[in-house]
Formats: sequence, structure tokens, C-alpha cells
Amino acid sequence: MSQKDHWEQVYSSKASEELGWYEPHLQTSLDLIQGLGLSLDASIIDVGGGASTLVDDLLDAGYRSITVLDISARALSLTRKRLGTRAEPVTWRVGDIDDIDLPEGQYDVWHDRAVFHFLTDVDQQRNYRDKLLGALAPRGHFVVGTFAPEAPPTCSGLPVQRYSPEQLEATLGASFELMHQRKSLHLTPGGVRQMYLYCHFRKTS
Ligand SMILES: C[S@@+](CC[C@H](N)C(=O)[O-])C[C@H]1O[C@@H](n2cnc3c(N)ncnc32)[C@H](O)[C@@H]1O
Repeated sequence: MSQKDHWEQVYSSKASEELGWYEPHLQTSLDLIQGLGLSLDASIIDVGGGASTLVDDLLDAGYRSITVLDISARALSLTRKRLGTRAEPVTWRVGDIDDIDLPEGQYDVWHDRAVFHFLTDVDQQRNYRDKLLGALAPRGHFVVGTFAPEAPPTCSGLPVQRYSPEQLEATLGASFELMHQRKSLHLTPGGVRQMYLYCHFRKTS
């Protein structure tokens, strides 16, 4: 089964609230983004945003330039339906982060919760890093949540790469500076403990 088919099936088979990674609010992500102290015009992309409510909360906070990208059309359609007319100012992109074209130097913030960790192949990780580097504005921010080393080895039935801050730093390379790190324990709706590592990186130039 292709990656896209996997994710379309996931979002067709369960309600959003039943998915393992579901949280009513992505509070850690929101806190990290708001803590950057950017203007409400800041350009923010949520990569693999799926059906999460981060976009709702960013709109509530007053951010005006938001893009949500996901490989699953079904996930984005659920999110758009939930938002109703509030979805209109948001840019919605259905695509695979492995091969989608993103505008150069566009985003002040690139957010990713539980997407990068699915890239278990070094070439895929490098490709992601290059896309991130290209699409972020100078001195742009990368806010990322991945499984930490003590988390399970799979997420959504797929193998994941688990990261310490040092491993993330090594994977991203010298073009990114680690500004902040924290761990946050997530309990899935089924009661499984998943330790996440959240990091804020800044592009060095
Ligand atoms: C574990 S879910 C996390 C969703 C959301 N970020 C959250 O925290 O609630 C992973 C999301 O990434 C999307 N995804 C997986 N692989 C992707 C890829 N290669 N390109 C874009 N999106 C992808 C999935 O469709 C899914 O919505």
C-alpha cells in the first residue's frame, strides 16, 4: 500500500478523536509558536497537519497567513468542514512532503508534529531538510514534535525514527540552531504512553 493510501484509509476508518495522536489542542506546539513572539502576519505552515485543531487555534490567536499541508485529502477535507467559512483564508495543500514544491523563503514558521519521524530513510530525511531550508524565510523557525527515544518504535502501524535533541541536531545539520527542547507525554485514546520530543530550531541565516 502506498503512503497516501495508508493515510487516506486511516482518516476514512476512524473519527479524528479516535486516532492515536489525537489531542483536543496541540498545546505544546501552540505554546512554542506563540512563544516566538512573531507578528500575526507571520507566515506559518503546518506540515502533515491532518485533522488536528492547530489551525483552529492559530486562527483564534489571530494569525492570518496559515498553510496546512497533508498527504491525505480526506484529512484536510475533515478539517475544512470543521472550520466552515473560517477555512477560507487558509491555504490548503494536498501533497507528499517528499516531492511537493514549496515557495522559496516563504515561511516564518514550519510546524511538524509526528510527520518527520516517519521518514526513516536517510535520503528522505535529507530531502526534507533541504525542503525545509529552502522554504523557510531567513532566520525562520522550525517547531517539530517527534517520538523521543523512549517512545514506541511505531506510530499508526508504521516504523518511526525516534530522536534525542542531539540526533535531531545532527540530522538537520549546521544550518539550524537548537533554541529550545522539551518532552511531553502523550496518552493515546487507547491509553498507550508516547513520549514526544519537541524542539524549536532556528535557521542560522
Ligand atoms: C501522526 S499524524 C499527525 C497529524 C497532526 N500533525 C497532529 O499532530 O495531530 C501524521 C500526519 O502526517 C500526514 N503525512 C504522513 N506522511 C506524509 C507525507 N509524506 N507528506 C505529507 N503529509 C504526510 C498524515 O496524513 C497525517 O495527517
